[in-house]
Amino acid sequence: MLERWTAVDEFMEEAFIGDDPVMEEILKHSHESGLPDISVSPNQGKMLWMMAKLIGAKRILEVGTLGGYSTTWLVRALPEDGRLVTLEYSSLHHQVASENIARAGFADKVDARCGAGADLMRQMIADGEKSFDLIFIDADKDGYADYFKLGLELSHPGTLIIADNVIFNGDILDEDKPWAHLEGIRKFLAAASAETRVESVPLSVVDRKGWDGFLLVWVKD
Ligand code: SAH
Ligand code: DHB
Ligand code: MG
Repeated sequence: MLERWTAVDEFMEEAFIGDDPVMEEILKHSHESGLPDISVSPNQGKMLWMMAKLIGAKRILEVGTLGGYSTTWLVRALPEDGRLVTLEYSSLHHQVASENIARAGFADKVDARCGAGADLMRQMIADGEKSFDLIFIDADKDGYADYFKLGLELSHPGTLIIADNVIFNGDILDEDKPWAHLEGIRKFLAAASAETRVESVPLSVVDRKGWDGFLLVWVKD
């Protein structure tokens, strides 16, 4: 089915995104710099943009920058005085993302930090960083449960937390696959499920990346 899913994904992209040279350049520069091709798909990127628009986000936190592709979709949704902080462990990815973000014209709105996501989040909490309206979790799957718990500390009632890759082609149900990333996602899903301060719902997608999706987590009033 992947071929069919890809064809429909591309059809929708052509219909509702069309040519987007800025985004295409980001993917090209990331690819040429040797980064893995694991950014969100264009339609998923636009979904992030729309989520940020719908909640009127002014402050966004992203964990897992890669080349800054999802970052750029999200920052495009911000108003003039909006700000986005994005965290990345790899100094190469951080470097390439910084170049991409600057070239896209968003260097003034994006604060790209390099380090382990959980350490940087703990530092932000210790520094009394203002809470975020939207938090996008897309770094190492092992760390998701920590990013979620720390993200809650950086939230306010009404914050929307979005986590990528919560389905992994359905593999999350295969307890016999002892892969750390699947364990990480399961641990995160269990934590979100048990957390009484939030209400969550999956947004399952099939596209060129296969069958995957976001978990949308709403911090309750
Ligand atoms: N959000 C990006 C894709 C992120 S891919 C997009 O859609 O465009 C996952 C990224 O998380 C990789 O760049 C990887 O280097 C980074 N990462 C891995 N471990 C990390 C950690 N402990 N802290 C922060 N980032 C990490
Ligand atoms: C991988 C990571 C991602 O965040 C993603 O969206 C797809 C694949 C990976 O590590 O393989
Ligand atoms: Mg992802």
